[in-house]
Amino acid sequence: MEIQDPNVNQITSSLPREKWCGHEFLYQYNGFWFTQTYFQSTQRVVENFKPLPTDVILASFPKTGTTWLKALLHSITNRSSKETTPSSLTFNHPQELIPSLETKLYVNEIQSNGTESGVIKDPKNTRVLGTHIPYQILVDILNSSDCKIVYVTRNPKDTLISLWHFVQKAKSVEQEPWELEIAVEQFCKGVLPFGPYYEHVLAYREQSMKRPEKVFFVSYEELKEDSKNCVKKIAEFLGCPFEGENEEEEEVEQIVKSCSFEILSEHEVNKSSDLPNGFPLPYSSFFRKGEVGDHLNYLDDEMIRKIDDITREKFHGSGFMY
Ligand code: A3P
Repeated sequence: MEIQDPNVNQITSSLPREKWCGHEFLYQYNGFWFTQTYFQSTQRVVENFKPLPTDVILASFPKTGTTWLKALLHSITNRSSKETTPSSLTFNHPQELIPSLETKLYVNEIQSNGTESGVIKDPKNTRVLGTHIPYQILVDILNSSDCKIVYVTRNPKDTLISLWHFVQKAKSVEQEPWELEIAVEQFCKGVLPFGPYYEHVLAYREQSMKRPEKVFFVSYEELKEDSKNCVKKIAEFLGCPFEGENEEEEEVEQIVKSCSFEILSEHEVNKSSDLPNGFPLPYSSFFRKGEVGDHLNYLDDEMIRKIDDITREKFHGSGFMY
C-alpha cells in the first residue's frame, strides 16, 4: 500500500496544479507535471537513486513503446544466459522484468536504514531500469555515473491516442470519461503525467546528439521499420554487439520475433487482468494495437492540425521531426 508522506502533501499544496482527468490533479514541478503519487516517488528517486556505472536506464515518455523496449533490452542484455530468454518473456511481464524507478521501485517508502527497497544492489547481469522522469530532473543523477541511457520516442499523435486509451481503462475515470477534445488540449499544453511531451523528448534528444556514447535515441517508428538493425545498434551501443555472421542473424531474428507485439501480446501473463503491484491498470493494458498511425482512426482534421502546429514549433531546429 502506498504511504503518503505529509511533507510531500505540504510541498504539492504549494505547487501549481491543474485538473487532469477523473478527479485527479497534476502538480507542476521544475516545468513538468506529475500526479501526487509520482511526484512523491520522483522525489525519492532524486534523493536516493545511485546508478551503477554498468546500469542501463530505459527512459521514455509514457506510451511511446516502453514495454517493447523493456522486452528488447532484457533479451539483448541477458542473451548469454540461455535459461533466461526467451522463456522469461513467456512467463513474466516486461514491466516486471525491467522495473521502473518511479512507478515501482520508489513508489513506497525507502527503508529507514536508507536502502533502496527492490533495487538489486549487486546484480549478476546488467541492471536495466525504466523511468519516465524527464532528463531535466535526473540530470545530476545520470551524470554522476557512467550508466548508459536508451531513450525511445514516438509520433506525438500516436502517443496521445495510446495514452487516451490507456487512461480510459483506469478505474478512477470510469464515471467521468476523458473526452478526446480535452485530451488534445491538454497534450498541446503539456499537462499530462511527465509532460510536456516535447520538452521531455528534446532534452534526451539533445543529450544523444552531444554524447552519443552515453544516450541512444530511437523511435517507435524506426523500430517498426527495421527492428533487426535497431537491435544490432542498441547491442553495439551497450557494448555487447552480436558477433559471427550467421549466428548473429539468427540470434537477432529470434530476439525481434520473441519481442514482437504479435508474440508478446499472446502470452497469458500479458493478457492477464491482474493488477501489477502498486499500479492501477492490468498487465494487459500495456498491449493494445501496436501500430504506427492509429491516430488517423481517432483524431479529426482540426485536432491533427493543432498537434502538428505545435510539433513544428517545438521540434523546429532540433533536426528531428514527426
Ligand atoms: P498502442 O496503444 O498504440 O497499441 P508503453 O509501453 O510506453 O506504455 O507503450 C504502449 C504502446 O506500445 C501501446 O501502443 C502498445 O500496444 C505498444 N506495444 C506494446 N508492446 C509492443 C511491442 N512488442 N511491439 C510494438 N508495440 C508494442
